[in-house]
Amino acid sequence: MTKPEDDYLLHVVMNGRVIGDVQRTGKKAVRLLYSTTVPTPLSVSMADRRKRYRSNALEPWLDGLLPDRPETLRQWRRRFKIADDNSAFALLRHVGEDVAGAAQFVRPDRLDNVLTGHGVLAPLAASDVAEMLRRAKADLPVNLDDSTIGKFSLAGAQAKIALHRADDCWSDPSGAVPSTHIIKPAIPGRDDQDLVEAVTMRTATALGLPTARVAVEEFADERAVVVTRYDRVRRNERYLRVHQEDMCQALAEWPGRRYETQGGPNAARVADLIRRVSSDPDVDNQRFAQALVFNWLTCGTDAHARNYSLLLSGDTARLAPLYDLNSHLAYADGTGTELSMSVEGAFRATAINLRTWARAGSALHVDADWLRAEIERQAAGLPAAIAEAAASGDVARYDSPTVARLVDTTAQWVKKRTG
Ligand SMILES: Nc1ncnc2c1ncn2[C@@H]1O[C@H](COP(=O)(O)OP(=O)(O)OP(=O)(O)O)[C@@H](O)[C@H]1O
Ligand SMILES: [Mg+2]
Repeated sequence: MTKPEDDYLLHVVMNGRVIGDVQRTGKKAVRLLYSTTVPTPLSVSMADRRKRYRSNALEPWLDGLLPDRPETLRQWRRRFKIADDNSAFALLRHVGEDVAGAAQFVRPDRLDNVLTGHGVLAPLAASDVAEMLRRAKADLPVNLDDSTIGKFSLAGAQAKIALHRADDCWSDPSGAVPSTHIIKPAIPGRDDQDLVEAVTMRTATALGLPTARVAVEEFADERAVVVTRYDRVRRNERYLRVHQEDMCQALAEWPGRRYETQGGPNAARVADLIRRVSSDPDVDNQRFAQALVFNWLTCGTDAHARNYSLLLSGDTARLAPLYDLNSHLAYADGTGTELSMSVEGAFRATAINLRTWARAGSALHVDADWLRAEIERQAAGLPAAIAEAAASGDVARYDSPTVARLVDTTAQWVKKRTG
């Protein structure tokens, strides 16, 4: 039996333990109350376990768990019969059990199910995964049945689904069992963008930047980039969730302010945050600076504040591996080279040069000589790294002109920027 007051309550569960409750106290108002023992807080912006956090801190954070696709949000609300309620709380009652990070937002009537570690893995054929991808692209809930319990929620403007893979079999997880992979089809209108994402991510890995693992796979007649979730780890035959939040959440910013040009966090603010909260600030400030350099040298124009995250465990915080890296050079015709985060106020990648970077070290909390050497290191390694990434089997088999252009343009671009 559900009680009417249950509509106003979501339990926050982390790996089988209730760490707090989110209560709805008004049409828009929500608050977070932590339980007595909370190993890991929801956010570095809500880290004091004795405090109650109200809407101003909590609402932007919860909103940050939802997709950045207005039509997806509209369709989800329609399906869950909450069309007149645009709060994150109302949607998380349906899709909050599998989100970014370790927290599960669980309705009272489902709590036992989640706490007992109960979960269902529904096996999926390749044609089922293809159907889910088509639904996601059409902004529809991906469920293959008409259940009112949704599946997952993830940020981002691109269509995607989250599934569980074990022993090379795909399944649709629920309850306590998490998704382990994120599957993203190519962005419509951008030829072979899934290949470009896979190549860019692997290039970063080859240059020594900690980056999520990717592969290009086919599901019946749908192709997509399959990203291994770094916020899930396998322990004794089970998957645990690892907590994370993106830089907007960590800075208590609304997700709609993810771009610096929208008044969102700039590189200095992210670097300051890392300095303040990271358990290894020297290394993490360097990693963040490395990512900024990489995005300049590959013209990765969409590296906004939500494309960087922190991993949280107890009271430690570390910069998460990189994800959603995409070079614009496959499509560049000399325009559209504005970066999402400026370097010393300059957004246009072509307007940034070694002199710009020479001034950037102190705001990024890295040594200027180290930064210059890092730029040289990446510039020297990039042409071979990207050629090798493009030659890997799951990409090379498509013989993509877009990928070929990416490899060629990158070598010229790097030379021009640093030569
Ligand atoms: N490998 C990963 N492991 C864990 N979480 C991830 C991983 N990759 C992405 N995420 C989470 O999923 C969210 C959406 O992923 P991603 O940034 O790839 O999507 P997108 O739709 O391309 O984003 P954008 O709107 O920036 O284009 C991220 O903001 C992050 O919270
Ligand atoms: Mg993203």
